[in-house]
Amino acid sequence: PFKLAPLPWDDDALAPTISAHTISFHYHKHHKAYVDMLNTLVEGTPYADMKLEEIVHKTAGATDPKDKKIFNNAGQVWNHDFYWRSLTPAKTEGDATLDSAITAAFGSKDALIAKLAEAGKDQFGSGWAWLVSKDGKLSIDKTSNAETPMAKGVNCLLTVDVWEHAYYLDYQNARPKYLEAVLGKIINWEFAAQNLA
Ligand code: FE2
Repeated sequence: PFKLAPLPWDDDALAPTISAHTISFHYHKHHKAYVDMLNTLVEGTPYADMKLEEIVHKTAGATDPKDKKIFNNAGQVWNHDFYWRSLTPAKTEGDATLDSAITAAFGSKDALIAKLAEAGKDQFGSGWAWLVSKDGKLSIDKTSNAETPMAKGVNCLLTVDVWEHAYYLDYQNARPKYLEAVLGKIINWEFAAQNLA
């Protein structure tokens, strides 16, 4: 069965940007529920023996309601694993390759952050803002619900969850404030550099 991957830091490590209270619901309830539901849905099906990424690829764009439900839960498990690893309480730097790719695509890291914040703000309803790369060239993407650029074979560098459950307890309806705090304070640039490499 699929397991809830451990968080890369303690529950209270991202406070006050993201409180332990938010983590107690977002990770321990929402993320866990996606894992539990995925296990229930794939039991006794060919998906039970597949890797998570493979399930996401195979069910992306599914019209069959059962497969769509599997996609929604598998996508959310993958996206959340990736989101937690995109965040860190430590001060991180990227590397020279990431820095020059950022400069080439956006002009500066501040400009990249502004574009990511805009993507997160503009995502109507639940979803995700992404920094992705194609042939070493960086760009911003946004997806709805459980959709993920990974399903289209796109290389993901980092993501920010903009579902209400990600910010409502700490920021209520102020999604832009959540985005500003997360992007300014707790992004794991080392993780982004590793994903680019
Ligand atoms: Fe979430």
